[in-house]
Amino acid sequence: MSSQSQRVHVALDERSYDISIADGALKQTGDIARAALGKKTRRVAIISNPRVYGHYGKLVEKSLKQAGFATLTHLMGDGERAKSIRTAERAWAFLIANRFERSDGIIALGGGVVGDLAGFVAATFLRGVNYVQIPTTLLAQIDSSVGGKTAVNHPLGKNLIGAFHQPRAVVIDPQTLHTLPRRELRAGMYEAVKYGVIWDRALADFIQTNLGKVFALDGETLTHIIRRSCEIKAEVVTTDERESGLRRILNFGHTVGHALEAVTAYRRFKHGEAVGHGMKCASVIAEKIGIIPPAESLAIRQSVDALGALPNVTDLQSPEILAAMAHDKKVAQGKLPLILPTAVGAVVVRDDVAPTVIRAAVRELLTARI
Ligand SMILES: NC(=O)c1ccc[n+]([C@@H]2O[C@H](COP(=O)([O-])OP(=O)(O)OC[C@H]3O[C@@H](n4cnc5c(N)ncnc54)[C@H](O)[C@@H]3O)[C@@H](O)[C@H]2O)c1
Repeated sequence: MSSQSQRVHVALDERSYDISIADGALKQTGDIARAALGKKTRRVAIISNPRVYGHYGKLVEKSLKQAGFATLTHLMGDGERAKSIRTAERAWAFLIANRFERSDGIIALGGGVVGDLAGFVAATFLRGVNYVQIPTTLLAQIDSSVGGKTAVNHPLGKNLIGAFHQPRAVVIDPQTLHTLPRRELRAGMYEAVKYGVIWDRALADFIQTNLGKVFALDGETLTHIIRRSCEIKAEVVTTDERESGLRRILNFGHTVGHALEAVTAYRRFKHGEAVGHGMKCASVIAEKIGIIPPAESLAIRQSVDALGALPNVTDLQSPEILAAMAHDKKVAQGKLPLILPTAVGAVVVRDDVAPTVIRAAVRELLTARI
C-alpha cells in the first residue's frame, strides 16, 4: 500500500482484526482478504448492490482473483428497504445454490445497508462464516463497518433482528467517496462530528478547520478523519463489545435522531442528519441541567450547523417525538438514558433528566430556536 496507508487494530482476542485505510486500498483487497481469511478460503461471495458494484465491483473482483480466490457475486437491492429478512433469504439461497462452504468467505461491498445485510448473512449462514467489510459511504467507513453489529429491519422497527459478528478485516478506500452523492457525504460527517464531541476535542477542531478540504474530497484530510473516527470506535467497542456500558456513548444524538426518523417514516432524513438534530437537542438539554458551559454547548450546535442546512423539523409535533423517544430500544425499567455532553470531547450518560426539561428542549428544536 502507499506510504499514506493507515492501519487501526480492533483488539477483541480471537475476534481481533485490522482496518486498512488508504487511497487506492480497493486494489489491495485481495491481499488483505487473503491475510485475514487464510489459505484455506478458496471462494468468496461479493455481496453488493448494482450502483456500488457498477463503480467498484470489477476492481475488487480482479484484486480478489489475483490473490487466488474464486469469486461469486450476489447483487441486492439498494436502499434501507432492502435491509430485510427477504433480502437475506435471497442471499442465503444464492449461497446454498452455489454450495458455499463453511471455509468460504463473504465480501460486503457497499454502504451501511449492504454491510449490515451481508454481515447478518455471514453471521447466520452455516452458523457463521468469515466476512470482510469494504465500506463505500463515509458513514459506513467511520461507523457501521466497524464493531460487528449486523442486522436486518423488521416491519415493526429498524435493526430489530441481528447478531454481533465481527468482520475479519475492513478495507477503506477514501477515493470511493468521489462517487458518493454530496448529501450522503454530509450525512456521514455528522457521525464524524459525533466522535469529536463524545471523545476527542482535537478531532472536533480538526473537522471545523478543514471543512473546505473535506468537501473538496482531499484524500489526506478524509483519511485523517476516517482513521481517527475508526480509532475512537475501536477503542469504545474494545472496551464494551456488546453495549452494556461505554458503547452507549456512541448513541449520542441518536435518541432524538431515531425519534425524528421514526415519525417521518424514515423518508425525510438521512440517519446522520437526524443525528445532527439530535446532537443539537442533547447540547441544549445538557445546558438546561447545568452540566455544560453555554459556550461549549453553542460550539457543538455550531459544529453541526457548519455542515449545512438540516432538513426541516418545524412541521413535526413534539408529543409524537416524545412518544417515539419513549419507545427507544434503550429504554430500561421505564428510564430513558440520554448521552449528554459536558464539553466538546466528553459526554456522560444520564437517566434522571426531568421530562419537562426534555420536552422544553424538543420544543426549541421543533421551533428552530436552537
Ligand atoms: N452496524 C452498525 O453499527 C451501524 C451503524 C450505523 C448505521 N448502520 C446502518 O447503516 C445504514 C445506512 O448506511 P449508509 O448511510 O451507508 O446508507 P446506504 O448503504 O443506503 O448508502 C447510501 C446510498 O449511497 C450509495 N452508495 C454507497 N457507496 C457509494 C459510492 N461510493 N458511490 C456512489 N454511491 C454509493 C448506496 O447505493 C445508497 O444508494 C442503515 O441501515 C443503518 O441502520 C449500522
